Order: sequence, then structure tokens, then C-alpha cells
Amino acid sequence: MSTAEIGNVVPDALDLFDDAHRVNPYPGYRRMRENPAPTRIRLADTEVTVLSRFADCAAVLASQAWGHGNADRLSPFWDQEASLPGSFIRMDPPDHRRLRGLVNKAFSARMVADLAPMITDLVDTFVDRAIADGGLDVVRDLSGPLALAMVGRRLLGVPEEDAELLRSWELAIARGTDPEPLLSPAEITARDSAGKAVVAYLADLVARRRADPQDDLLSRLVAVEEAGEVLSAAEVLGICVLLLVAGMETSINLVGNGIHALLSHPQQLDRLRRDPDLVGPAIEEILRYDTPTQFTMRVALTDTTVGDQTYQRGDGVIVLMGSADRDDDVFGAGDELDVTRYARPGGPRHLGFSLGLHYCLGAPLARLEASTAIRTLITRAPGLRLTDAPLDYQPSIIHRGLHSLPVEITTAAN
Ligand code: HEM
Repeated sequence: MSTAEIGNVVPDALDLFDDAHRVNPYPGYRRMRENPAPTRIRLADTEVTVLSRFADCAAVLASQAWGHGNADRLSPFWDQEASLPGSFIRMDPPDHRRLRGLVNKAFSARMVADLAPMITDLVDTFVDRAIADGGLDVVRDLSGPLALAMVGRRLLGVPEEDAELLRSWELAIARGTDPEPLLSPAEITARDSAGKAVVAYLADLVARRRADPQDDLLSRLVAVEEAGEVLSAAEVLGICVLLLVAGMETSINLVGNGIHALLSHPQQLDRLRRDPDLVGPAIEEILRYDTPTQFTMRVALTDTTVGDQTYQRGDGVIVLMGSADRDDDVFGAGDELDVTRYARPGGPRHLGFSLGLHYCLGAPLARLEASTAIRTLITRAPGLRLTDAPLDYQPSIIHRGLHSLPVEITTAAN
């Protein structure tokens, strides 16, 4: 537990912040959902509500009455001063609309489709190597290098030799996206110094792209900034850091969580192997079943209600998507993994990519990366097996993912 004073009203809320929660948070979430009383926790000097049921989470994410309140410094979750200028994930309209609109163009279906051959080549190389070696660490040898190549190299234009440096900064910043009162002083220092280092690094890269544009998103953002007043130089850097943090950790964890879920459910793995075209629906199911982004936060921008609870302007809520997406009221047997669930028409959507204004901008890229990696690995390496190594989850509570996931490849199918 960290520096936060967690004076919970409902004891089960403590599960969220407990180390034991890392390996399997879902029984604790279920207890929260089933408890009719609202779950409240104390963060620093404010009490916030934890929303764990699907209907409440979806209502808040879709509502304009909720946002980040950055203009009015309403947020109980973080120090607004520390936010980067272009990081629109924590902004409300109109700034959010302006910045997202600029980046959105670069995430067109066409741009993502153009990345497909590169993703396929990279994944084939990693899987060939794994088969030759008789095993791999899914995070270190497959999803990590893939995300670094996509977000680091292809979007930001970071050269391959700096990939590890980028990953170490990104990890420190990703840990620092948990609500500020939950971080230890050492974690805040690590986050802030990684933030400064990455901004200095990217500023240098921006200067190089200005002089010598390349075929990457960074060069396109620099061109927009040079063309007029819509985007400042500081915002270009903020957007880059946002893409790094929002895009890297999450995609790495989707592949890791997905392979872990499939290897732990041999019948589901077998079903997918028999029909690899189910990989699209299977990715949606993994996003529902063990989502890389467990929660987000919102602040009431005006007095409002959610379900039968009233909130005043400035009240904070934790929107626990990881719990909402297991809600039996919406998904039937919510704790069961079913790779065919999203192959059936009319199924309820999940909140793994959020909902509303902040719906994940990188969702098409994340889907493409994960489906290529998972499909290739399970079809080309039939004898995949988890090892006896204990599961090593990251300390973050927003991001759910493993530091490493070693698996063996045997010749016999499992
Ligand atoms: C499996 C992978 C991913 C997951 C689970 C994921 C999840 C999410 C979620 C939950 C949000 C919304 C947060 C909120 O409502 O407060 C979000 C927003 C965002 N994501 Fe993703 N993401 C993934 C991959 C990516 C990738 C690959 C990129 C880009 C390279 C990306 C870029 C963004 C951006 C820029 C936003 C902010 C959108 C906005 O505020 O309008 N994400 N993501």
C-alpha cells in the first residue's frame, strides 16, 4: 500500500489497492458489484466513489456531465500542473476536440491497414525465433518489441537503437498514471524524471524532423504545427508522450493477457485453433475478460445523478471497466471466457476501449497488432504451454499486465 490514506466506507474497496489484488482482482470486483451500498474510498483529502457495475460505468463515460475539469482544476485524482499541454486524454472540449481531431487523421483505417505488412513481418520474425528456441517470453520477445516498433518507430520515428530507453521511460510514466495519491514519493520522482527525459529526447527528435521530415506521425504533427496556430510546439510533445503511454503499455498487455487467458483455458484455445478466423471476436473477448486498462477517472462537471446516487460538481468517480465488463447482468456468466461471444450478433459491447468522447483512438491499431500476434503464435506453435514460473504482475492498478510471460513450445500439440 502507498501513501494514500484509504479510509474506505466499504471494506472490499481495499482489494483494489492490495498487492494480493494483482493476480486476480475479479472476486473483489464481484463483491463490490453485489454490494448494494456505494463503494467510496478516501484519496488524500477527498472521498471518491468507485463505480463497478456496467450500467453506472457506461452512463458516466457516455455523459457530458462528466469529464476531467482541467480548466477549473476540479480533479481530485492528479496534479493538473503536472499534465503535459497536449495530453488530451485528460482534457475536456473544446481543447480535447481540437487536439484529438488532429491526431485522428493519422489513425484512419487506411493508415492502419498500411501497417499490416510490417506487423505481419515482425510477428513472423519473432515467432520463427521462438520456435527455433523452443519457447519465448511473450512480453519481452513478442508483444514488447512489436509495440515498440509500432508506436516508437513507426508513429514517433524513434530509431531502433533507442527502443529500450523508450521502454524504460514509458514504464515509469505508465506506473505514474495511477491516481496521484496512490503513488509513493519514489514512484512520483521516477515518473517525473522519466517524463522530463522523454520530453527532452522527443524535442530533439522534433528538431530533426523539422529539418528532415520522414514518413512518420511525428513529421506530420510538426508540419501541422508549422502550418498555423492550431497546434503549439509544446502540444506536439504532449501528444507524443500520450501516444507512448496510451499506446504501448496497453497493446503489450493485451497480447500478454490474451495468451495467458487462452493457455489457462485449453478448450477455448482449441476452439480458436480450429477456427483461427475467430481471432477478431476472441480479441474483443480478451478485452472484456482481462482488459489492459482496468479503470479510468472522471469528475462531475455539474451536479448530476448516476443510478440512484446524486453527485455534486467536483465529485470524483473511479470508473472500473475491469469490473463492469464482468457484470452478469449484461454478459450472463461474466467470469467465463468465451471466444465465440463476439461472433454472435447483437452481443453487448465491452468498455475495454472506453466509450464516448475519449473512446480509444488507437483501437484499430491495437486490434490489428493483437490479432496478428495471437493468431500467428497459436497457429504456428501448436505445443504452447505455460511454465511453472510464478505470475509477475506490474504494480500499476490502472494498467493490468505481466512483466514477463514465459511459455514453452513443444512439438506435441496441447
Ligand atoms: C489494447 C490496447 C489498448 C487499450 C486497452 C486502450 C484503452 C484505452 C482506453 C480505455 C482509453 C480511454 C480512457 C478514458 O476514457 O479515460 C484510451 C484512450 C486513448 N488511447 Fe488507447 N488503448 C489501447 C491502445 C492504444 C494504442 C495502440 C494507441 C495509439 C498508438 C492508443 C491511443 C489512445 C489515445 C490517444 C487515447 C485518448 C483518446 C481521447 O482522450 O480522446 N491506445 N485507450
